[in-house]
Amino acid sequence: MKTYRGITIGSGHFAYIQMDAWAEVKGAEIVGIVSRSLGSAQKLADQYKIPHVGTDIISMIEEVKPDFVDICTPPDSHLFYAKIAADHGIPILCQKPVAPSQEESKLLVQYCKDKQVPVMINENWRWQGWYREIKRIMESGILGTLFHVYFAMRPGDGYGDSPYPLQPYFKDMEKFLLFETGVHWFDTFRFLFGNIENVYCQTRTWNPIVKGEDSAIVQFDFSNGMTGIYDANRVTYMETVRSNAYGWMTLEGEKGKLRLDLDGRIFFTLRDGVEQEHQYEMPTGWKGGCAVATQQHFIDCLDSGTVFETEGEQYLVSQEIVYACYESAKTKCAIHVG
Ligand SMILES: NC(=O)c1ccc[n+]([C@@H]2O[C@H](COP(=O)([O-])OP(=O)(O)OC[C@H]3O[C@@H](n4cnc5c(N)ncnc54)[C@H](O)[C@@H]3O)[C@@H](O)[C@H]2O)c1
Repeated sequence: MKTYRGITIGSGHFAYIQMDAWAEVKGAEIVGIVSRSLGSAQKLADQYKIPHVGTDIISMIEEVKPDFVDICTPPDSHLFYAKIAADHGIPILCQKPVAPSQEESKLLVQYCKDKQVPVMINENWRWQGWYREIKRIMESGILGTLFHVYFAMRPGDGYGDSPYPLQPYFKDMEKFLLFETGVHWFDTFRFLFGNIENVYCQTRTWNPIVKGEDSAIVQFDFSNGMTGIYDANRVTYMETVRSNAYGWMTLEGEKGKLRLDLDGRIFFTLRDGVEQEHQYEMPTGWKGGCAVATQQHFIDCLDSGTVFETEGEQYLVSQEIVYACYESAKTKCAIHVG
């Protein structure tokens, strides 16, 4: 495989996780950093020994002629950078959420499509090692027909006067938990269980200094007949803050049930049996190796010409669920998604 040379745009919290992962990805190399602040771009470049640093994407593209861009800025600048990359015919890896609204997200995806430039949304949750393993367990048939999934999301990082120390901008977001965080689960549930037809959602804001919702309960109706619940609260006290899996999950089936623990361990109980731990090799690295796996998938697909799992149009479907949840919370009615 050739080595694909990329520019990372943005030098904040997640750019560091992204850069750690790029160091592990086969066939990729980041050669330039572009960010709004030259100082923070330089700091990131110094840490990871990246040769080119700047604040202007067009001159950086002309200088290094990259094979891809890795957009890691807040959603309000994704369209701006995606258009420039698409105009230059450069494939795009773009952070979630795609844009501040679904309309702008559609514009971004359509713009890239019109220019025939591949765009993958950097949705890494579905790549957490435990979800890949759970998918394998489900497909083995050991649990039989699946009835119900329940996820309790409890990162425990949203309490008090200084919530979300790693991402303090969270507290100022008008739409927060569903838009920023819940979308990871909506996409992962689609990966594991397929199409979501209807949602019913309730939201709350428990921390008074947070603008958007910091708690939500969503009930799902899947096309395969399953039901599901995403029960999220970032304020509840947790002994382990921001645990590996951010919470715990139970999956119930006809022949048995499965439990994902806070740390990514998987347990299952077959009918008439007792709970046992499922042994598997949990990938190392951030959150079950998901950043490396996502970025490797991007590079592998560029190289083989395969469609990304979270290519733009597919990911818009996951985002559609976010907006259906807001609509449901507002109207107190179940909303049909598709
Ligand atoms: N996939 C994940 O697991 C995950 C986790 C955290 C964040 N994110 C996403 O990553 C993106 C960045 O989040 P973050 O936490 O790193 O934010 P951040 O605020 O910590 O960093 C953003 C960076 O972008 C730069 N920036 C802002 N506007 C810019 C512009 N117009 N042009 C150039 N640079 C600009 C800032 O200077 C900063 O360096 C967001 O879309 C966020 O949702 C994804």
